[in-house]
Amino acid sequence: MPRKKKVLPTPPLDLIEPDASIDDLREAAQQCRGCDIWERATQAVFGEGAPGAEVMLVGEQPGNREDLEGHPFVGPAGKLLDVALEEAGIDRKHVYVTNVVKHFNSTTRGKLRIHKKPNAEEIAACRPWLEAEIARVGPKVIVCLGATAAQALISRNFRVSRQRGEMMKSPLAPLITATVHPSSILRAPDDESRHAEMRQFVADLKKIARHLPPSALKIK
Ligand code: URA
Repeated sequence: MPRKKKVLPTPPLDLIEPDASIDDLREAAQQCRGCDIWERATQAVFGEGAPGAEVMLVGEQPGNREDLEGHPFVGPAGKLLDVALEEAGIDRKHVYVTNVVKHFNSTTRGKLRIHKKPNAEEIAACRPWLEAEIARVGPKVIVCLGATAAQALISRNFRVSRQRGEMMKSPLAPLITATVHPSSILRAPDDESRHAEMRQFVADLKKIARHLPPSALKIK
């Protein structure tokens, strides 16, 4: 039997033109073969939002819904994020949302596709896309949602449970911070803890709002 031809990885740097816009990058990312997650995904899900957004929210990777629809944070975690941003008074129109990894990494269980955390090589392979997004959007604050983003963008030793909400300087943006991933709130074992975690998440976002210009806020 002929052996399946192995597709050689295409480093994203080859695909990133210096003068590419976000829309160009989104299109180019569809050709990315920098790691092999693309083989199991429907499409690359690139970041979205206002080009000059003051806030960039960075998650781990698209989920099942995002993979099928081609847009970041449109599934249950994204809905919760929208509610929390609204509660915190941050205008969604001033936010850019993206992920550390642009393809949905999954394993199959029966007919189900189950989320699989990306490994260090996959995160590193995808990094040029994220850096290209940061360079074009130029956010004032980068907010890492969950440990994968925080450990990729702040420090390998970052512990969200201990350091959430801390505002730090970064070579990537004037300020960087981290909070929980919204999907962790959805996984809370009961209503009481879910409400408590949501309150804490909104409090973290309100802290971020204090660093934003009035134009990025929704006055309630
Ligand atoms: N979780 C993420 O980290 N990103 C998405 O886009 C959706 C769910």
